[in-house]
Amino acid sequence: MKVLKYKNYEALSQAVAEKMVLQIHSKPNSVFCLASGSSPLETYKCFVELVQKNNVDYSQCVFVGLDEWLGIKPEDAGSCHYFLTKNVFEPLNVAPENSYLFDGLTKNPAAECQRIKQAIIENNGIDLIIVGIGMNGHIGFNEPGVAIENYVHVVDLDSVTQTVGQKYFEEPTLLKKGITIGLQFFLEAKSAILMANGPKKADIIQQTIEGKITTAVPSTIIRQHQNAVVMLEEAAAGNLVE
Ligand code: GLP
Repeated sequence: MKVLKYKNYEALSQAVAEKMVLQIHSKPNSVFCLASGSSPLETYKCFVELVQKNNVDYSQCVFVGLDEWLGIKPEDAGSCHYFLTKNVFEPLNVAPENSYLFDGLTKNPAAECQRIKQAIIENNGIDLIIVGIGMNGHIGFNEPGVAIENYVHVVDLDSVTQTVGQKYFEEPTLLKKGITIGLQFFLEAKSAILMANGPKKADIIQQTIEGKITTAVPSTIIRQHQNAVVMLEEAAAGNLVE
Protein backbone atom coordinates (compact mmCIF):
# COMPACT_ATOMS: atom_id res chain seq x y z
CA MET A 1 0.00 0.00 0.00
CA LYS A 2 1.33 3.39 -1.02
CA VAL A 3 0.81 6.63 0.89
CA LEU A 4 0.87 9.88 -1.08
CA LYS A 5 0.71 13.33 0.50
CA TYR A 6 -0.45 16.63 -0.98
CA LYS A 7 0.02 20.21 0.24
CA ASN A 8 -3.66 21.09 0.36
CA TYR A 9 -7.16 19.86 -0.43
CA GLU A 10 -7.09 21.26 -3.98
CA ALA A 11 -3.88 19.42 -4.88
CA LEU A 12 -5.21 16.20 -3.35
CA SER A 13 -8.50 16.51 -5.23
CA GLN A 14 -6.77 17.21 -8.53
CA ALA A 15 -4.49 14.19 -8.07
CA VAL A 16 -7.38 11.81 -7.34
CA ALA A 17 -9.30 13.17 -10.34
CA GLU A 18 -6.28 12.58 -12.56
CA LYS A 19 -6.13 8.97 -11.40
CA MET A 20 -9.79 8.57 -12.35
CA VAL A 21 -9.05 9.86 -15.85
CA LEU A 22 -6.01 7.59 -16.18
CA GLN A 23 -8.24 4.69 -15.20
CA ILE A 24 -10.58 5.49 -18.11
CA HIS A 25 -7.64 5.78 -20.50
CA SER A 26 -6.36 2.36 -19.46
CA LYS A 27 -9.82 0.75 -19.55
CA PRO A 28 -12.64 2.67 -21.25
CA ASN A 29 -15.32 0.45 -19.74
CA SER A 30 -14.08 0.82 -16.17
CA VAL A 31 -16.38 0.20 -13.24
CA PHE A 32 -16.01 2.93 -10.62
CA CYS A 33 -17.37 2.66 -7.10
CA LEU A 34 -17.63 6.14 -5.62
CA ALA A 35 -18.01 7.47 -2.09
CA SER A 36 -20.02 10.51 -1.28
CA GLY A 37 -19.20 12.95 1.53
CA SER A 38 -17.03 16.02 1.94
CA SER A 39 -13.72 14.29 1.15
CA PRO A 40 -14.32 13.57 -2.57
CA LEU A 41 -16.51 16.61 -3.29
CA GLU A 42 -13.75 18.65 -4.94
CA THR A 43 -12.33 15.54 -6.64
CA TYR A 44 -15.56 15.09 -8.56
CA LYS A 45 -15.55 18.76 -9.61
CA CYS A 46 -11.98 18.35 -10.89
CA PHE A 47 -12.92 15.07 -12.59
CA VAL A 48 -15.88 16.63 -14.42
CA GLU A 49 -13.66 19.53 -15.54
CA LEU A 50 -10.84 17.26 -16.70
CA VAL A 51 -13.18 14.97 -18.60
CA GLN A 52 -14.92 17.87 -20.34
CA LYS A 53 -11.72 19.79 -21.12
CA ASN A 54 -10.00 16.75 -22.61
CA ASN A 55 -13.03 15.13 -24.22
CA VAL A 56 -12.48 11.95 -22.27
CA ASP A 57 -14.89 9.29 -23.46
CA TYR A 58 -16.54 7.85 -20.36
CA SER A 59 -19.60 6.57 -22.23
CA GLN A 60 -18.72 2.94 -21.46
CA CYS A 61 -17.89 3.52 -17.79
CA VAL A 62 -20.16 2.25 -15.05
CA PHE A 63 -20.54 4.18 -11.79
CA VAL A 64 -21.74 2.55 -8.58
CA GLY A 65 -22.52 4.41 -5.36
CA LEU A 66 -20.61 3.16 -2.33
CA ASP A 67 -23.32 3.44 0.28
CA GLU A 68 -26.60 4.99 1.41
CA TRP A 69 -28.56 5.90 4.53
CA LEU A 70 -31.55 3.58 4.82
CA GLY A 71 -34.84 5.44 5.18
CA ILE A 72 -33.58 8.60 3.46
CA LYS A 73 -35.23 9.72 0.23
CA PRO A 74 -33.05 9.88 -2.91
CA GLU A 75 -34.00 13.53 -3.38
CA ASP A 76 -32.96 14.48 0.16
CA ALA A 77 -29.86 16.69 -0.14
CA GLY A 78 -28.15 14.62 2.58
CA SER A 79 -28.50 11.33 0.71
CA CYS A 80 -25.60 9.73 -1.12
CA HIS A 81 -27.96 9.36 -4.08
CA TYR A 82 -28.42 13.13 -4.28
CA PHE A 83 -24.71 13.80 -3.79
CA LEU A 84 -23.54 11.58 -6.65
CA THR A 85 -26.39 12.65 -8.91
CA LYS A 86 -25.62 16.36 -8.45
CA ASN A 87 -21.84 16.12 -8.46
CA VAL A 88 -21.14 13.40 -11.03
CA PHE A 89 -24.09 11.99 -12.94
CA GLU A 90 -25.90 15.21 -13.88
CA PRO A 91 -22.82 17.23 -14.89
CA LEU A 92 -21.59 14.31 -17.01
CA ASN A 93 -25.02 13.25 -18.17
CA VAL A 94 -24.22 9.65 -17.27
CA ALA A 95 -26.60 7.22 -18.97
CA PRO A 96 -29.06 5.68 -16.47
CA GLU A 97 -27.98 2.18 -17.51
CA ASN A 98 -24.41 3.06 -16.49
CA SER A 99 -25.21 4.26 -13.00
CA TYR A 100 -26.17 2.28 -9.93
CA LEU A 101 -27.23 3.94 -6.70
CA PHE A 102 -28.83 2.38 -3.65
CA ASP A 103 -32.47 3.27 -3.04
CA GLY A 104 -32.56 4.41 0.58
CA LEU A 105 -36.33 3.95 0.62
CA THR A 106 -36.26 0.35 -0.51
CA LYS A 107 -38.91 -1.86 1.10
CA ASN A 108 -36.63 -4.83 0.61
CA PRO A 109 -33.05 -4.04 1.64
CA ALA A 110 -31.87 -7.62 1.04
CA ALA A 111 -33.10 -7.47 -2.57
CA GLU A 112 -31.46 -4.05 -2.95
CA CYS A 113 -28.14 -5.54 -1.79
CA GLN A 114 -28.58 -8.33 -4.30
CA ARG A 115 -29.42 -5.89 -7.15
CA ILE A 116 -26.20 -3.93 -6.64
CA LYS A 117 -24.09 -7.05 -6.07
CA GLN A 118 -25.42 -8.55 -9.28
CA ALA A 119 -24.74 -5.35 -11.25
CA ILE A 120 -21.11 -5.33 -10.10
CA ILE A 121 -20.65 -9.01 -10.90
CA GLU A 122 -22.25 -8.64 -14.36
CA ASN A 123 -19.80 -5.82 -15.08
CA ASN A 124 -16.87 -8.03 -14.04
CA GLY A 125 -16.11 -6.38 -10.71
CA ILE A 126 -14.96 -2.96 -9.58
CA ASP A 127 -11.91 -1.48 -11.32
CA LEU A 128 -11.41 1.55 -9.08
CA ILE A 129 -13.05 2.17 -5.72
CA ILE A 130 -12.69 5.59 -4.15
CA VAL A 131 -13.48 5.80 -0.45
CA GLY A 132 -13.31 8.37 2.31
CA ILE A 133 -12.80 7.45 5.93
CA GLY A 134 -15.18 7.87 8.86
CA MET A 135 -13.99 9.29 12.18
CA ASN A 136 -14.30 5.72 13.52
CA GLY A 137 -12.39 4.21 10.60
CA HIS A 138 -15.41 3.13 8.63
CA ILE A 139 -15.13 2.58 4.90
CA GLY A 140 -18.47 3.11 3.24
CA PHE A 141 -20.74 2.02 6.08
CA ASN A 142 -18.52 -0.85 7.13
CA GLU A 143 -18.53 0.00 10.79
CA PRO A 144 -16.12 -1.19 13.52
CA GLY A 145 -16.44 -4.95 14.03
CA VAL A 146 -17.74 -5.61 10.50
CA ALA A 147 -17.25 -9.05 8.93
CA ILE A 148 -14.80 -8.91 6.02
CA GLU A 149 -16.65 -11.41 3.81
CA ASN A 150 -19.66 -9.18 3.01
CA TYR A 151 -20.13 -8.09 -0.61
CA VAL A 152 -23.12 -5.77 -0.09
CA HIS A 153 -24.96 -5.55 3.19
CA VAL A 154 -27.23 -3.67 5.56
CA VAL A 155 -25.63 -2.33 8.72
CA ASP A 156 -26.61 -0.79 12.03
CA LEU A 157 -24.84 2.53 12.10
CA ASP A 158 -22.32 3.21 14.81
CA SER A 159 -23.17 6.07 17.21
CA VAL A 160 -20.19 8.06 15.85
CA THR A 161 -21.61 7.76 12.33
CA GLN A 162 -25.09 8.74 13.48
CA THR A 163 -23.69 11.89 15.07
CA VAL A 164 -21.12 12.87 12.43
CA GLY A 165 -23.67 12.10 9.67
CA GLN A 166 -25.84 15.00 10.84
CA LYS A 167 -23.47 17.33 8.97
CA TYR A 168 -25.02 16.28 5.65
CA PHE A 169 -28.57 17.17 6.69
CA GLU A 170 -30.29 20.49 7.19
CA GLU A 171 -32.36 19.22 10.13
CA PRO A 172 -31.63 16.65 12.84
CA THR A 173 -32.20 13.31 11.11
CA LEU A 174 -32.60 9.80 12.46
CA LEU A 175 -29.77 7.74 10.97
CA LYS A 176 -30.04 4.18 12.25
CA LYS A 177 -29.16 1.92 9.35
CA GLY A 178 -27.10 2.04 6.21
CA ILE A 179 -26.60 -0.08 3.13
CA THR A 180 -23.11 -0.43 1.77
CA ILE A 181 -20.66 -2.12 -0.52
CA GLY A 182 -18.85 -4.52 1.81
CA LEU A 183 -15.18 -5.05 2.48
CA GLN A 184 -15.08 -8.10 0.22
CA PHE A 185 -15.86 -6.02 -2.88
CA PHE A 186 -13.45 -3.40 -1.55
CA LEU A 187 -10.65 -5.96 -1.30
CA GLU A 188 -11.48 -7.47 -4.70
CA ALA A 189 -11.53 -4.10 -6.49
CA LYS A 190 -8.62 -3.99 -8.95
CA SER A 191 -7.47 -0.74 -7.39
CA ALA A 192 -8.50 1.31 -4.39
CA ILE A 193 -7.98 4.88 -3.28
CA LEU A 194 -8.67 6.01 0.27
CA MET A 195 -8.61 9.79 0.48
CA ALA A 196 -8.66 12.06 3.52
CA ASN A 197 -8.26 15.73 4.22
CA GLY A 198 -8.23 18.02 7.24
CA PRO A 199 -6.58 17.71 10.67
CA LYS A 200 -9.68 16.01 12.15
CA LYS A 201 -8.78 12.86 10.21
CA ALA A 202 -5.13 12.78 11.38
CA ASP A 203 -5.72 10.37 14.30
CA ILE A 204 -7.77 7.83 12.38
CA ILE A 205 -5.34 8.01 9.46
CA GLN A 206 -2.47 7.25 11.81
CA GLN A 207 -4.37 4.24 13.19
CA THR A 208 -5.16 3.13 9.64
CA ILE A 209 -1.56 3.17 8.51
CA GLU A 210 0.41 2.45 11.66
CA GLY A 211 -2.02 0.61 13.95
CA LYS A 212 -2.85 -3.08 14.18
CA ILE A 213 -4.84 -4.50 11.24
CA THR A 214 -8.25 -5.23 12.70
CA THR A 215 -11.91 -4.97 11.72
CA ALA A 216 -12.33 -2.89 14.89
CA VAL A 217 -10.83 -0.18 12.68
CA PRO A 218 -12.18 -1.24 9.25
CA SER A 219 -9.91 1.14 7.33
CA THR A 220 -6.84 -0.87 8.44
CA ILE A 221 -8.05 -3.63 6.10
CA ILE A 222 -6.80 -1.49 3.20
CA ARG A 223 -3.32 -2.78 4.09
CA GLN A 224 -4.44 -6.20 2.85
CA HIS A 225 -5.42 -4.78 -0.53
CA GLN A 226 -3.17 -5.76 -3.46
CA ASN A 227 -3.27 -2.37 -5.15
CA ALA A 228 -4.27 0.44 -2.83
CA VAL A 229 -3.13 3.97 -2.33
CA VAL A 230 -3.92 6.28 0.56
CA MET A 231 -3.97 9.86 -0.71
CA LEU A 232 -3.78 12.51 1.99
CA GLU A 233 -3.79 16.20 2.43
CA GLU A 234 -0.76 16.98 4.63
CA ALA A 235 -3.09 18.09 7.43
CA ALA A 236 -4.57 14.58 7.59
CA ALA A 237 -1.10 13.00 7.50
CA GLY A 238 0.21 15.13 10.39
CA ASN A 239 0.51 12.27 12.92
CA LEU A 240 2.31 9.80 10.67
CA VAL A 241 5.86 8.82 11.60
CA GLU A 242 7.17 9.42 8.06
C1 GLP B 1 -19.76 8.90 5.47
C2 GLP B 1 -20.05 8.11 4.18
C3 GLP B 1 -18.80 7.49 3.62
C4 GLP B 1 -17.73 8.54 3.64
C5 GLP B 1 -17.32 8.77 5.08
C6 GLP B 1 -16.46 9.99 5.28
O1 GLP B 1 -20.60 8.57 6.50
N1 GLP B 1 -21.08 7.14 4.27
O2 GLP B 1 -19.02 7.02 2.31
O3 GLP B 1 -16.64 8.16 2.87
O4 GLP B 1 -18.44 8.78 5.95
O5 GLP B 1 -17.21 11.16 5.05
P1 GLP B 1 -16.57 12.57 4.80
O6 GLP B 1 -15.80 12.53 3.54
O7 GLP B 1 -17.75 13.52 4.71
O8 GLP B 1 -15.69 12.86 5.98
